[in-house]
Amino acid sequence: MDKYVIRGGKPLYGEVEISGAKNAAVAIIPASLMVDGVCRIENIPDISDTDKLLTILTHLGAKVRTINKNTVEIDCTAARRTGAPFDLMRKIRASYYLIGSMLGRFGSAKTTMPGGCNFGVRPIDQHIKGMTALGAEVNVSGGFIYADARGGRLKGAKIYLDKVSVGATINVMLAATLAEGQSIIENAAREPHIVDLANFLNSMGADIRGAGTDTIKVNGVDRLHGGSYSLIPDQIEAGTYMAAVAATGGSILVKNVIPKHLDCISAKLREMGVTVEEGDDAVLVSRTGKLKRTNIKTLPYPGFPTDMQPQISTVLCLAEGTSVVTEGVWDNRYKYVNELRKMGAQIHVDGKTAIIEGVGALTGAPVAACDLRAGAAMVIAGLCAEGVTEVEDVHYIERGYQDIVGKLRALGADIVYICEKDETPRTGAAAI
Ligand code: EPU
Repeated sequence: MDKYVIRGGKPLYGEVEISGAKNAAVAIIPASLMVDGVCRIENIPDISDTDKLLTILTHLGAKVRTINKNTVEIDCTAARRTGAPFDLMRKIRASYYLIGSMLGRFGSAKTTMPGGCNFGVRPIDQHIKGMTALGAEVNVSGGFIYADARGGRLKGAKIYLDKVSVGATINVMLAATLAEGQSIIENAAREPHIVDLANFLNSMGADIRGAGTDTIKVNGVDRLHGGSYSLIPDQIEAGTYMAAVAATGGSILVKNVIPKHLDCISAKLREMGVTVEEGDDAVLVSRTGKLKRTNIKTLPYPGFPTDMQPQISTVLCLAEGTSVVTEGVWDNRYKYVNELRKMGAQIHVDGKTAIIEGVGALTGAPVAACDLRAGAAMVIAGLCAEGVTEVEDVHYIERGYQDIVGKLRALGADIVYICEKDETPRTGAAAI
């Protein structure tokens, strides 16, 4: 099994360049299916989730031209509604964004039930509610989702989401873009990647207002035209490196970020005794003294992101005193705690609450990545632990972090990627 081997205890120093936002990319690639013409997308992270989505588009008849590692040109002029590789679709969560974009483009869609990280039940009732309100007939059976605009074009409608959902907000926004008339999404999610998707669609001719607030108005247009767009930087990748230096000590410049998107992460790290200095598009993060305890509750944006919960909880294991972490988005996002316990962490989980007793130091051990962010947490734990940590199931981590091994090595970490086939240690992007 592929794994990372980390010899911990080295502080991090230097600079790290943050890649484009995964959760923006996985919405914008399916959105390109609705574009009549060529769209050039820059700053796409080179990760397995974006790779799979581009492959899915190719199977649907899109021409995908790779300009460089992070730039593609997608031409969906000749795309068709059939040919989707269902096995591939099942492997990623974001494949369900094809429901919204296929409904817009073709008036019907067939996709698989989505995959992705397992945090307990991940319902899609709000997606279905939104599509149905726009006039689609949606059926779920045998692991597939069928949606049909009943032979015509979707019609704008007012949709109140019962739950703040990133996925439902994105999917309804996609479906409404080419619908007839105005749609209003209320209780919409406000994450930066939702704004990024709206900006992408608007730059291709859509008329979407209010993204970033809880009310989004979409005035349907007849067609989208080609254009060029560059994705925002990844808030969670940046936060992960910030947490890593908080755990190991040292000082790193996290480059190509939007500091505003990191406000809640920076605020919590400061409470923990970490210095965070903001520049225009970079943050300097340093930790020399002891880490202090704090309490954290995850919430939809602009609250503290659930996708940073495992990483920050790992840092809190090293703080003095007892910290309380409350998961406010997912029912079951503490599976990684069992792995951290193998490294000496003292964490008691009760439902959505984790009580973390600071232990000062962790000890290297063989651990597994249970999911993407849990895997990032294991890497952070390994970087600060005494001794050797082997992280297995790293394919989860590579779903969302471009060249994490190369970036950490450039910061002075002792981490290598061991490839199952030949057990040879590799370093840097070539390993991934
Ligand atoms: N929910 C419903 N019904 C729905 C949809 C969601 O009840 O129809 C509930 C969920 O069960 C959850 C809450 O609403 O309790 C929020 O779920 P949301 O729909 O916002 O999550 P998602 O769209 O499935 C995205 C990210 C996740 C991130 C969440 C929350 C993508 C591809 N995934 O998931 O990212 O945790 O938003 O911010 O954008 C990650 O990157 O590691 C990751 C898991």
